[in-house]
Amino acid sequence: MHVLVTAGPTHEALDPVRYLGNHSTGKMGYALAEAWAEAGARVTLVSGPTHLPVPAHPAIRTVRVTSGREMLAACQAVAAECAVWVFAAAVADYRPAEVSPTKIKKSGDRLTLELVKNVDVAAALGATKRPDQFSVGFALETNDELTHARAKLGSKRFDVVVLNSLADPGAGFAHDTNQVTLVDAATATPLPLALKTEVARAIVAAVRARLR
Ligand code: CTP
Repeated sequence: MHVLVTAGPTHEALDPVRYLGNHSTGKMGYALAEAWAEAGARVTLVSGPTHLPVPAHPAIRTVRVTSGREMLAACQAVAAECAVWVFAAAVADYRPAEVSPTKIKKSGDRLTLELVKNVDVAAALGATKRPDQFSVGFALETNDELTHARAKLGSKRFDVVVLNSLADPGAGFAHDTNQVTLVDAATATPLPLALKTEVARAIVAAVRARLR
């Protein structure tokens, strides 16, 4: 089985020396790639810029990208041949409308940047999803968590959404631990707070159970 995993942030260039980005470390996505490989899958890991070492597992092929558009192109190259897609990347929702070919020099006291909507990797692949393919999305919500998570099942054609808890002190971006709830149309199953490596194994086990 071939599994596609996206991970990390994206960097959206402003000029040759600056970008818009976010604090995603990529740890959850890399842990998922490792967990799928441990479970016997061949994995294509499409990673935005992170400080993590390239996974050593021989079943994992890592494709490094910078922007959301590069991430989409790398995913589209393998999506059709993958049975499972896991979208753990924190893709920038907006990117600068224009990329200056030269370094933007400081001038006045204010600078206004115009942003345009970025590509949505999960939604773009979702539009091509076949009935034999399974898509896993992530969501971070602060209110009406279940309603918002379930909306993504439809809009991005996810089969299950991994809802990240903001309430738990050990969960989220900057931590090695995470607490998530697996959400589908009918059920919401909280997993215990655990190391991201353990959470990844639990997510892989839950997806494999649904594939059977
Ligand atoms: N995603 C993606 N490409 C984007 C944005 C998001 O592939 N341009 C994927 C993420 O990897 C994740 C899911 O879609 O699996 C998150 O969806 P999104 O709607 O961005 O969720 P939040 O960021 O939680 O919510 P919001 O819409 O409020 O920003």
